Amino acid sequence: MVRIAVMVSGGGTNLQALINAQKAGLFPKGEIKLVISSSENAYALERAKQAGIETMVISRRNYVSGELFDLANVTALKDHEIDLVVLAGYLSILGPAMIQAYPDRILNIHPSLIPSFCGKGFYGLKVHEEALARGVKITGATVHVVNEIPDGGRILIQKPVAVQEGDTPEVLQKRVMEEAEWVILPEAVRQVTEAIAEEKEK
Ligand code: GRF
Repeated sequence: MVRIAVMVSGGGTNLQALINAQKAGLFPKGEIKLVISSSENAYALERAKQAGIETMVISRRNYVSGELFDLANVTALKDHEIDLVVLAGYLSILGPAMIQAYPDRILNIHPSLIPSFCGKGFYGLKVHEEALARGVKITGATVHVVNEIPDGGRILIQKPVAVQEGDTPEVLQKRVMEEAEWVILPEAVRQVTEAIAEEKEK
């Protein structure tokens, strides 16, 4: 079984999509074993508890340095023998220790078609505000592998979403989540857990 950890910071709707997909048998080779939140107030923690998934809060402000914060995350993941890390609305920056501990094994969902509207400072509603300000007709979401460059790793899946007349950032964000994020993140987890399971069976 491929052991999955999901790292969250907020409402957890992407986590919920993963929980629902797991229940529906979309990725039988994988199982969500741990949810780590960077904030103790994240509603994502409630979603995990309702699904019977172990939770931890590892908050950057409890550590004197980024290195110690990174080490706390790596230690928690290794203690739980995690094979695959999924960032789902996770807002803290992961340092080199995390990337080195999980090469090609950290996925992130970003609410735009990378390389548009991504990189430092582009997260949450800001992404959609910029897409509307630029006047793009098509936006969407991307699942990519996490490396040392913010939003810079290999792209796994993308899904386009049409911008509609009169869209506000909130309305556009909701459509991108419903039509793209909540679809491609579970699909990416299915593909990657199949690949890891195959490797483990060799
Ligand atoms: C949303 O802006 C989503 O587009 C991005 O992270 C934010 C929160 O997502 N991926 P979630 O509801 O916490 O999964």
